[in-house]
Amino acid sequence: MKTTTTAMRTSLVLVLLLAAASAAAAASSKDRCHSDDKKALLAIDAAFGTPYHFASWTPDSSCCDWYGVDCDPFTGRVVGLSIFQDANLTGTIPDAIGGLVHLRNLMLHHLPGISGPIPPAIARLSNLSMLIISYTGVSGPVPSFLGKLTALTLLELPFNSLTGAIPASLAALPYLSGIDLSRNRLTGAIPPLLLSRSPDQAYLVLSHNNLSGGIPAEFAAVNFAHLDLSRNTLTGGDASGLFGGAKELQYLDLSRNALSFNLSGVELPEQLYFVDVSHNAIYGGIPAQVANLTNLQFFNVSYNRLCGGVPTGGNMARFDAYNYQHNKCLCGPPLPTTCNK
Ligand SMILES: *[C@@H]1O[C@H](CO)[C@@H](O)[C@H](O)[C@H]1NC(C)=O
Ligand SMILES: *[C@@H]1O[C@H](CO)[C@@H](O)[C@H](O)[C@H]1NC(C)=O
Ligand SMILES: *[C@@H]1O[C@H](CO)[C@@H](O)[C@H](O)[C@H]1NC(C)=O
Ligand SMILES: *[C@@H]1O[C@H](CO)[C@@H](O)[C@H](O)[C@H]1NC(C)=O
Ligand SMILES: *[C@@H]1O[C@H](CO)[C@@H](O)[C@H](O)[C@H]1NC(C)=O
Ligand SMILES: *[C@@H]1O[C@H](CO)[C@@H](O)[C@H](O)[C@H]1NC(C)=O
Repeated sequence: MKTTTTAMRTSLVLVLLLAAASAAAAASSKDRCHSDDKKALLAIDAAFGTPYHFASWTPDSSCCDWYGVDCDPFTGRVVGLSIFQDANLTGTIPDAIGGLVHLRNLMLHHLPGISGPIPPAIARLSNLSMLIISYTGVSGPVPSFLGKLTALTLLELPFNSLTGAIPASLAALPYLSGIDLSRNRLTGAIPPLLLSRSPDQAYLVLSHNNLSGGIPAEFAAVNFAHLDLSRNTLTGGDASGLFGGAKELQYLDLSRNALSFNLSGVELPEQLYFVDVSHNAIYGGIPAQVANLTNLQFFNVSYNRLCGGVPTGGNMARFDAYNYQHNKCLCGPPLPTTCNK
Protein backbone atom coordinates (compact mmCIF):
# COMPACT_ATOMS: atom_id res chain seq x y z
CA MET A 1 0.00 0.00 0.00
CA LYS A 2 2.76 2.42 1.02
CA THR A 3 4.94 1.50 -1.95
CA THR A 4 2.07 1.90 -4.37
CA THR A 5 1.27 5.37 -3.06
CA THR A 6 4.86 6.53 -3.40
CA ALA A 7 5.19 5.00 -6.86
CA MET A 8 1.88 6.50 -8.01
CA ARG A 9 2.89 9.90 -6.76
CA THR A 10 6.29 9.71 -8.44
CA SER A 11 4.83 8.60 -11.76
CA LEU A 12 2.27 11.41 -11.62
CA VAL A 13 5.08 13.93 -11.19
CA LEU A 14 6.90 12.19 -14.04
CA VAL A 15 3.93 12.51 -16.37
CA LEU A 16 3.56 16.20 -15.49
CA LEU A 17 7.25 16.83 -16.15
CA LEU A 18 7.10 15.01 -19.47
CA ALA A 19 4.06 17.01 -20.54
CA ALA A 20 5.82 20.26 -19.63
CA ALA A 21 8.98 19.18 -21.43
CA SER A 22 7.21 18.24 -24.66
CA ALA A 23 5.09 21.41 -24.64
CA ALA A 24 8.26 23.45 -24.29
CA ALA A 25 9.96 21.45 -27.05
CA ALA A 26 7.04 22.00 -29.42
CA ALA A 27 7.13 25.75 -28.81
CA SER A 28 10.82 26.12 -29.63
CA SER A 29 11.88 26.31 -33.23
CA LYS A 30 14.85 28.69 -33.16
CA ASP A 31 17.65 28.33 -30.61
CA ARG A 32 16.41 29.88 -27.39
CA CYS A 33 19.03 28.03 -25.42
CA HIS A 34 21.27 30.18 -23.25
CA SER A 35 24.94 29.42 -23.84
CA ASP A 36 25.65 29.06 -20.09
CA ASP A 37 22.90 26.44 -19.80
CA LYS A 38 24.14 24.60 -22.89
CA LYS A 39 27.65 24.59 -21.45
CA ALA A 40 26.42 23.17 -18.12
CA LEU A 41 24.33 20.48 -19.85
CA LEU A 42 27.21 19.41 -22.10
CA ALA A 43 29.41 19.19 -18.98
CA ILE A 44 26.76 16.93 -17.36
CA ASP A 45 26.75 14.74 -20.50
CA ALA A 46 30.57 14.58 -20.43
CA ALA A 47 30.64 13.77 -16.71
CA PHE A 48 28.44 10.73 -17.38
CA GLY A 49 30.75 9.74 -20.27
CA THR A 50 28.42 10.89 -23.12
CA PRO A 51 26.06 7.92 -22.77
CA TYR A 52 23.37 7.01 -25.28
CA HIS A 53 20.80 8.56 -22.92
CA PHE A 54 21.91 12.03 -24.03
CA ALA A 55 22.13 11.24 -27.77
CA SER A 56 19.86 14.21 -28.55
CA TRP A 57 22.17 16.58 -26.66
CA THR A 58 24.20 17.74 -29.68
CA PRO A 59 26.04 21.10 -29.56
CA ASP A 60 24.53 22.27 -32.88
CA SER A 61 20.89 22.01 -31.69
CA SER A 62 18.92 24.08 -29.18
CA CYS A 63 19.27 22.64 -25.68
CA CYS A 64 15.57 23.41 -25.19
CA ASP A 65 14.88 20.59 -27.66
CA TRP A 66 17.07 18.08 -25.85
CA TYR A 67 15.58 15.01 -24.21
CA GLY A 68 14.67 15.68 -20.57
CA VAL A 69 15.37 19.42 -20.77
CA ASP A 70 12.67 22.02 -20.14
CA CYS A 71 13.12 25.73 -20.87
CA ASP A 72 11.09 28.67 -19.61
CA PRO A 73 9.01 29.81 -22.63
CA PHE A 74 9.73 33.48 -21.93
CA THR A 75 13.34 33.58 -20.74
CA GLY A 76 14.56 30.51 -22.60
CA ARG A 77 16.53 29.51 -19.52
CA VAL A 78 16.67 25.85 -18.53
CA VAL A 79 14.20 25.42 -15.65
CA GLY A 80 13.66 21.66 -15.72
CA LEU A 81 15.93 18.63 -16.01
CA SER A 82 14.61 15.08 -15.84
CA ILE A 83 16.91 12.11 -16.20
CA PHE A 84 15.10 8.83 -15.62
CA GLN A 85 14.67 5.12 -16.27
CA ASP A 86 18.12 4.14 -17.42
CA ALA A 87 20.10 1.39 -15.73
CA ASN A 88 23.03 2.01 -18.09
CA LEU A 89 23.76 5.44 -16.69
CA THR A 90 26.60 5.18 -14.18
CA GLY A 91 28.71 7.58 -12.15
CA THR A 92 27.98 10.23 -9.58
CA ILE A 93 25.66 13.24 -9.74
CA PRO A 94 27.82 15.75 -11.65
CA ASP A 95 28.80 19.06 -10.04
CA ALA A 96 27.96 20.64 -13.40
CA ILE A 97 24.26 20.47 -12.43
CA GLY A 98 25.05 23.44 -10.16
CA GLY A 99 25.65 25.47 -13.32
CA LEU A 100 21.94 25.34 -14.24
CA VAL A 101 21.24 28.24 -11.91
CA HIS A 102 17.69 28.87 -13.15
CA LEU A 103 16.61 25.29 -12.51
CA ARG A 104 13.23 24.89 -10.76
CA ASN A 105 12.62 21.16 -11.17
CA LEU A 106 15.26 18.47 -10.98
CA MET A 107 14.38 14.81 -11.24
CA LEU A 108 16.80 11.89 -11.20
CA HIS A 109 14.54 8.85 -11.15
CA HIS A 110 15.18 5.14 -11.54
CA LEU A 111 18.89 5.37 -12.20
CA PRO A 112 20.26 2.43 -10.18
CA GLY A 113 23.79 2.91 -11.56
CA ILE A 114 24.13 6.39 -10.07
CA SER A 115 26.06 6.34 -6.80
CA GLY A 116 27.95 8.63 -4.46
CA PRO A 117 26.63 11.52 -2.41
CA ILE A 118 24.33 14.40 -3.27
CA PRO A 119 26.94 17.02 -4.27
CA PRO A 120 27.20 20.46 -2.59
CA ALA A 121 26.86 21.98 -6.08
CA ILE A 122 23.09 21.38 -5.72
CA ALA A 123 23.06 24.17 -3.11
CA ARG A 124 23.76 26.66 -5.92
CA LEU A 125 20.30 26.02 -7.39
CA SER A 126 18.63 28.78 -5.41
CA ASN A 127 15.40 28.69 -7.44
CA LEU A 128 14.92 24.94 -7.11
CA SER A 129 11.32 24.19 -6.17
CA MET A 130 11.17 20.45 -6.69
CA LEU A 131 14.04 18.05 -6.03
CA ILE A 132 13.47 14.38 -6.74
CA ILE A 133 16.21 11.77 -6.50
CA SER A 134 14.59 8.33 -6.33
CA TYR A 135 15.46 4.69 -7.00
CA THR A 136 19.19 5.37 -7.35
CA GLY A 137 22.33 4.13 -5.62
CA VAL A 138 22.93 7.57 -4.14
CA SER A 139 24.39 7.31 -0.62
CA GLY A 140 25.78 9.52 2.11
CA PRO A 141 23.69 11.91 4.18
CA VAL A 142 20.60 13.95 3.39
CA PRO A 143 22.83 17.02 3.18
CA SER A 144 22.15 19.86 5.57
CA PHE A 145 22.94 22.31 2.74
CA LEU A 146 19.53 21.47 1.27
CA GLY A 147 18.35 23.96 3.91
CA LYS A 148 19.80 26.69 1.66
CA LEU A 149 17.33 25.91 -1.12
CA THR A 150 14.78 28.42 0.12
CA ALA A 151 12.44 28.00 -2.87
CA LEU A 152 11.99 24.28 -2.26
CA THR A 153 8.36 23.11 -2.11
CA LEU A 154 8.86 19.36 -2.62
CA LEU A 155 11.77 17.16 -1.56
CA GLU A 156 11.56 13.51 -2.56
CA LEU A 157 14.56 11.27 -1.96
CA PRO A 158 12.99 7.81 -1.54
CA PHE A 159 14.53 4.43 -2.50
CA ASN A 160 18.18 5.42 -2.18
CA SER A 161 20.92 4.40 0.26
CA LEU A 162 21.00 7.57 2.32
CA THR A 163 22.31 7.29 5.87
CA GLY A 164 22.61 9.51 8.94
CA ALA A 165 20.07 11.83 10.49
CA ILE A 166 17.46 14.06 8.85
CA PRO A 167 19.04 17.54 8.97
CA ALA A 168 17.22 20.08 11.14
CA SER A 169 18.01 22.69 8.46
CA LEU A 170 15.06 21.38 6.40
CA ALA A 171 12.71 22.80 9.04
CA ALA A 172 13.71 26.33 8.08
CA LEU A 173 12.46 26.06 4.50
CA PRO A 174 9.47 28.41 4.25
CA TYR A 175 7.67 26.87 1.23
CA LEU A 176 8.44 23.21 1.81
CA SER A 177 5.21 21.23 2.18
CA GLY A 178 6.15 17.77 0.92
CA ILE A 179 8.97 15.48 2.06
CA ASP A 180 9.52 11.83 1.14
CA LEU A 181 12.69 10.24 2.51
CA SER A 182 11.28 6.71 2.67
CA ARG A 183 13.25 3.53 1.95
CA ASN A 184 16.67 4.72 2.97
CA ARG A 185 18.76 3.90 6.03
CA LEU A 186 18.19 7.05 8.02
CA THR A 187 18.75 7.05 11.76
CA GLY A 188 18.26 9.45 14.65
CA ALA A 189 15.23 11.44 15.71
CA ILE A 190 12.72 13.29 13.53
CA PRO A 191 13.60 17.03 13.66
CA PRO A 192 10.83 18.53 15.84
CA LEU A 193 10.11 21.47 13.58
CA LEU A 194 10.00 19.55 10.31
CA LEU A 195 7.30 21.08 8.06
CA SER A 196 6.34 23.51 10.83
CA ARG A 197 6.44 26.34 8.26
CA SER A 198 4.54 24.43 5.57
CA PRO A 199 2.26 26.93 3.81
CA ASP A 200 -0.03 24.17 2.53
CA GLN A 201 -1.34 20.86 3.77
CA ALA A 202 1.76 18.87 4.66
CA TYR A 203 2.86 15.56 3.16
CA LEU A 204 5.49 13.57 5.07
CA VAL A 205 6.73 10.06 4.27
CA LEU A 206 9.62 8.70 6.32
CA SER A 207 8.75 5.00 6.19
CA HIS A 208 11.25 2.12 5.95
CA ASN A 209 14.14 3.78 7.73
CA ASN A 210 15.66 3.30 11.15
CA LEU A 211 14.42 6.49 12.78
CA SER A 212 14.13 6.50 16.55
CA GLY A 213 12.74 8.70 19.31
CA GLY A 214 9.18 9.91 19.56
CA ILE A 215 6.71 11.62 17.27
CA PRO A 216 7.58 15.30 17.80
CA ALA A 217 5.04 17.12 19.98
CA GLU A 218 5.44 20.03 17.55
CA PHE A 219 3.62 17.97 14.89
CA ALA A 220 0.41 19.00 16.67
CA ALA A 221 0.74 22.40 15.01
CA VAL A 222 1.40 21.05 11.49
CA ASN A 223 -1.53 20.73 9.12
CA PHE A 224 -0.81 17.21 7.83
CA ALA A 225 -2.85 15.66 5.05
CA HIS A 226 -0.60 12.62 4.66
CA LEU A 227 1.70 11.18 7.31
CA ASP A 228 3.60 7.91 6.94
CA LEU A 229 6.14 7.08 9.64
CA SER A 230 5.77 3.30 9.28
CA ARG A 231 8.58 0.78 9.65
CA ASN A 232 10.96 2.68 11.86
CA THR A 233 11.83 2.21 15.52
CA LEU A 234 9.81 5.10 16.89
CA THR A 235 8.86 4.92 20.54
CA GLY A 236 6.95 7.09 22.93
CA GLY A 237 3.61 7.51 24.50
CA ASP A 238 2.27 10.68 22.99
CA ALA A 239 0.78 10.82 19.52
CA SER A 240 -2.20 12.90 20.64
CA GLY A 241 -1.01 15.90 18.62
CA LEU A 242 -1.81 14.07 15.40
CA PHE A 243 -5.44 13.58 16.32
CA GLY A 244 -8.45 15.81 16.86
CA GLY A 245 -11.68 16.48 15.01
CA ALA A 246 -10.44 19.71 13.45
CA LYS A 247 -7.43 18.08 11.77
CA GLU A 248 -7.34 17.64 8.01
CA LEU A 249 -5.39 14.38 8.18
CA GLN A 250 -6.48 11.90 5.51
CA TYR A 251 -3.76 9.26 5.53
CA LEU A 252 -2.02 7.98 8.65
CA ASP A 253 0.45 5.11 8.75
CA LEU A 254 2.32 4.56 12.00
CA SER A 255 2.60 0.79 11.56
CA ARG A 256 5.60 -1.29 12.63
CA ASN A 257 7.11 0.97 15.24
CA ALA A 258 7.16 0.66 19.03
CA LEU A 259 4.63 3.39 19.83
CA SER A 260 2.74 3.07 23.05
CA PHE A 261 -0.19 5.39 23.60
CA ASN A 262 -3.77 5.19 24.77
CA LEU A 263 -6.11 5.11 21.79
CA SER A 264 -9.29 5.45 23.89
CA GLY A 265 -9.31 9.18 24.30
CA VAL A 266 -8.35 9.95 20.73
CA GLU A 267 -10.67 11.75 18.33
CA LEU A 268 -9.92 10.60 14.80
CA PRO A 269 -9.96 13.38 12.17
CA GLU A 270 -13.10 13.29 10.04
CA GLN A 271 -11.41 13.07 6.63
CA LEU A 272 -9.31 10.01 7.41
CA TYR A 273 -9.51 7.34 4.72
CA PHE A 274 -6.44 5.31 5.66
CA VAL A 275 -5.34 4.32 9.17
CA ASP A 276 -2.66 1.71 9.83
CA VAL A 277 -1.29 1.64 13.37
CA SER A 278 -0.59 -2.13 13.38
CA HIS A 279 2.49 -3.64 15.08
CA ASN A 280 2.98 -1.18 17.91
CA ALA A 281 2.24 -1.32 21.63
CA ILE A 282 -0.88 0.83 21.53
CA TYR A 283 -3.31 0.28 24.42
CA GLY A 284 -6.76 1.36 25.58
CA GLY A 285 -9.74 0.76 23.29
CA ILE A 286 -10.88 1.62 19.77
CA PRO A 287 -12.88 4.88 19.98
CA ALA A 288 -16.54 4.35 18.99
CA GLN A 289 -16.29 7.49 16.89
CA VAL A 290 -14.32 5.57 14.24
CA ALA A 291 -17.65 4.21 12.98
CA ASN A 292 -18.62 7.78 12.10
CA LEU A 293 -15.72 8.30 9.67
CA THR A 294 -17.53 8.27 6.33
CA ASN A 295 -14.35 8.20 4.19
CA LEU A 296 -12.63 5.34 5.98
CA GLN A 297 -11.35 2.71 3.51
CA PHE A 298 -8.59 1.07 5.52
CA PHE A 299 -8.34 0.58 9.26
CA ASN A 300 -5.76 -1.74 10.79
CA VAL A 301 -5.03 -1.83 14.52
CA SER A 302 -3.71 -5.42 14.64
CA TYR A 303 -0.71 -6.48 16.78
CA ASN A 304 -1.18 -3.99 19.59
CA ARG A 305 -2.43 -4.19 23.21
CA LEU A 306 -5.98 -2.99 22.67
CA CYS A 307 -8.99 -4.12 24.68
CA GLY A 308 -12.77 -3.78 24.59
CA GLY A 309 -15.43 -4.01 21.92
CA VAL A 310 -14.82 -3.42 18.22
CA PRO A 311 -17.08 -0.54 17.13
CA THR A 312 -19.89 -1.44 14.75
CA GLY A 313 -22.05 0.48 12.29
CA GLY A 314 -20.98 2.94 9.61
CA ASN A 315 -18.14 1.62 7.48
CA MET A 316 -17.01 -0.89 10.09
CA ALA A 317 -18.62 -3.87 8.32
CA ARG A 318 -15.94 -3.69 5.63
CA PHE A 319 -13.09 -4.51 8.04
CA ASP A 320 -12.43 -8.20 8.76
CA ALA A 321 -10.82 -9.88 11.78
CA TYR A 322 -7.33 -9.52 10.29
CA ASN A 323 -7.52 -5.79 11.00
CA TYR A 324 -7.93 -6.48 14.73
CA GLN A 325 -5.91 -9.69 15.30
CA HIS A 326 -3.23 -10.11 17.98
CA ASN A 327 -4.42 -7.60 20.54
CA LYS A 328 -4.70 -8.01 24.29
CA CYS A 329 -8.44 -8.33 24.68
CA LEU A 330 -10.45 -6.90 21.78
CA CYS A 331 -13.83 -8.56 21.41
CA GLY A 332 -17.01 -8.66 19.40
CA PRO A 333 -17.62 -9.11 15.67
CA PRO A 334 -15.75 -9.64 13.39
CA LEU A 335 -13.59 -11.26 16.09
CA PRO A 336 -14.65 -14.70 17.34
CA THR A 337 -14.48 -13.63 21.04
CA THR A 338 -17.70 -12.27 22.48
CA CYS A 339 -17.50 -9.34 24.85
CA ASN A 340 -18.25 -9.97 28.54
CA LYS A 341 -21.03 -7.77 29.69
C1 LIG B 1 21.52 -0.30 -22.09
O1 LIG B 1 22.58 -1.05 -22.69
C2 LIG B 1 22.14 -2.18 -23.40
C3 LIG B 1 23.37 -2.95 -23.86
O2 LIG B 1 24.34 -2.08 -24.34
C4 LIG B 1 21.25 -1.72 -24.57
O3 LIG B 1 20.77 -2.84 -25.26
C5 LIG B 1 20.07 -0.93 -24.00
O4 LIG B 1 19.28 -0.42 -25.06
C6 LIG B 1 20.56 0.21 -23.16
N1 LIG B 1 19.43 0.85 -22.54
C7 LIG B 1 19.21 2.16 -22.57
C8 LIG B 1 17.99 2.65 -21.84
O5 LIG B 1 19.95 2.94 -23.15
C1 LIG C 1 14.54 32.99 -9.38
O1 LIG C 1 13.15 33.25 -9.35
C2 LIG C 1 12.84 34.62 -9.20
C3 LIG C 1 11.35 34.72 -9.05
O2 LIG C 1 10.69 33.90 -9.95
C4 LIG C 1 13.38 35.38 -10.42
O3 LIG C 1 13.10 36.74 -10.27
C5 LIG C 1 14.87 35.16 -10.50
O4 LIG C 1 15.37 35.76 -11.68
C6 LIG C 1 15.17 33.69 -10.55
N1 LIG C 1 16.61 33.49 -10.50
C7 LIG C 1 17.20 32.62 -11.26
C8 LIG C 1 18.68 32.50 -11.09
O5 LIG C 1 16.56 31.95 -12.05
C1 LIG D 1 18.37 -0.33 12.89
O1 LIG D 1 19.05 -0.06 14.10
C2 LIG D 1 19.18 -1.18 14.91
C3 LIG D 1 19.78 -0.74 16.26
O2 LIG D 1 20.68 0.28 16.07
C4 LIG D 1 20.04 -2.21 14.20
O3 LIG D 1 20.19 -3.35 14.99
C5 LIG D 1 19.37 -2.57 12.89
O4 LIG D 1 20.19 -3.46 12.16
C6 LIG D 1 19.11 -1.34 12.06
N1 LIG D 1 18.32 -1.71 10.90
C7 LIG D 1 18.57 -1.24 9.69
C8 LIG D 1 17.64 -1.69 8.62
O5 LIG D 1 19.50 -0.48 9.45
C1 LIG E 1 -7.17 5.20 28.39
O1 LIG E 1 -7.90 6.40 28.41
C2 LIG E 1 -9.22 6.25 28.91
C3 LIG E 1 -9.95 7.59 28.85
O2 LIG E 1 -9.68 8.27 27.69
C4 LIG E 1 -9.20 5.76 30.33
O3 LIG E 1 -10.52 5.53 30.77
C5 LIG E 1 -8.42 4.46 30.38
O4 LIG E 1 -8.27 4.05 31.73
C6 LIG E 1 -7.04 4.61 29.76
N1 LIG E 1 -6.46 3.30 29.68
C7 LIG E 1 -5.28 3.02 30.21
C8 LIG E 1 -4.82 1.60 30.09
O5 LIG E 1 -4.58 3.87 30.74
C1 LIG F 1 -21.66 9.53 15.49
O1 LIG F 1 -22.54 10.34 14.72
C2 LIG F 1 -23.85 10.41 15.25
C3 LIG F 1 -24.71 11.17 14.26
O2 LIG F 1 -24.07 12.34 13.84
C4 LIG F 1 -23.80 11.06 16.62
O3 LIG F 1 -25.11 11.09 17.18
C5 LIG F 1 -22.90 10.25 17.53
O4 LIG F 1 -22.75 10.89 18.76
C6 LIG F 1 -21.53 10.06 16.90
N1 LIG F 1 -20.78 9.14 17.70
C7 LIG F 1 -19.57 9.40 18.16
C8 LIG F 1 -18.95 8.35 19.02
O5 LIG F 1 -18.93 10.42 17.86
C1 LIG G 1 -3.40 -5.67 9.07
O1 LIG G 1 -2.05 -5.71 9.49
C2 LIG G 1 -1.62 -7.03 9.78
C3 LIG G 1 -0.22 -6.90 10.34
O2 LIG G 1 0.63 -6.24 9.47
C4 LIG G 1 -1.67 -7.90 8.55
O3 LIG G 1 -1.29 -9.21 8.86
C5 LIG G 1 -3.09 -7.88 8.01
O4 LIG G 1 -3.12 -8.58 6.81
C6 LIG G 1 -3.56 -6.46 7.79
N1 LIG G 1 -4.94 -6.48 7.37
C7 LIG G 1 -5.33 -6.05 6.17
C8 LIG G 1 -6.76 -6.12 5.85
O5 LIG G 1 -4.53 -5.57 5.37
